[in-house]
Amino acid sequence: MSPNLATKNTSPTPDAPGRWVVTEFGKPDVLKWHPWDPTSEVSGNNVLVRIILAGLGGVDNIQRVGGFPDPRASKPGFSTGYEIVGEVLALGDSMDLKMLGTCSPSKFDYIRSLGVEPIDRNASDLVEQVRKLTDGAGVDVAYDGVCSEDSVRNFLAATKPDTGRLVVFGLMGEIASDGSKMLDGAQATLGRRLQQPRTSFFSLSQELHNEPEVDDFHVIVDKVRTGELDPVIAKLLPLSKGVEGHQLLVNGSAVKGKLLFVVDADLATKLGVQSDESR
Ligand SMILES: NC(=O)c1ccc[n+]([C@@H]2O[C@H](COP(=O)([O-])OP(=O)(O)OC[C@H]3O[C@@H](n4cnc5c(N)ncnc54)[C@H](OP(=O)(O)O)[C@@H]3O)[C@@H](O)[C@H]2O)c1
Repeated sequence: MSPNLATKNTSPTPDAPGRWVVTEFGKPDVLKWHPWDPTSEVSGNNVLVRIILAGLGGVDNIQRVGGFPDPRASKPGFSTGYEIVGEVLALGDSMDLKMLGTCSPSKFDYIRSLGVEPIDRNASDLVEQVRKLTDGAGVDVAYDGVCSEDSVRNFLAATKPDTGRLVVFGLMGEIASDGSKMLDGAQATLGRRLQQPRTSFFSLSQELHNEPEVDDFHVIVDKVRTGELDPVIAKLLPLSKGVEGHQLLVNGSAVKGKLLFVVDADLATKLGVQSDESR
């Protein structure tokens, strides 16, 4: 787990570190501060985020009164909201992942430091090594960036029989060893190698940057950076003002712009952000 987790919780919370919980559906005073240590829940798919700022808006208002169509907000006992900005401190042990990685032996120590068990990528007994490290079972998924005949055969053989999957994501094995050319075309190679059972190709979407929403987002962010757009922050509230923040939402007439909670005051101060009450 990240040493950053030792960072003290600097949230200006009412008493102990914790969170605002909707104890029953109703007016803002149904929100009660519950002491909570999130570090004990960093497991499975959970991610621990040190939150700098959290947005507060219409969604919080409707969640508090029990009208939000999300099963996680269907009964009291949750915290409202879903807008946060922060730093990821730790990932859950997910999923209880055991990771094996092929590489050159000179990188074994580095690969171990990442929590991955290294295997020499040229080892003639690569499949046996994987079996040994997985109690004979093989891996659930093997990722192959080489896509040579050998790598596809070996990686697939190192997966669990009948259920294991091979995901090819690169074709480094098709580049001539002197780096002069491709031995065969990418499509032809993939066409041949992906014939194997339980094998697929993964590629990042090269079209993402063409999506109109991404363009719009960049245009907006650039305008904020240059000062051409100046988002209106209605209030920067310390997190201790959870109930007061919700009271502003109920009528809404006093809210002109975005309502935000400063959650981690120390981190926010370092970034030049302070709640209205500490300025
Ligand atoms: N599908 C996608 O969306 C996607 C996106 C990005 C990249 N890729 C692909 O992913 C692969 C890796 O990209 P990268 O940017 O991580 O490359 P990189 O930084 O150059 O790393 C390549 C590493 O792979 C290992 N390797 C294994 N067989 C190799 C071979 N035949 N030739 C060269 N290196 C070999 C080497 O490490 P060791 O000697 O330690 O094994 C080498 O350092 C490439 O095939 C790339 O096209 C795919």
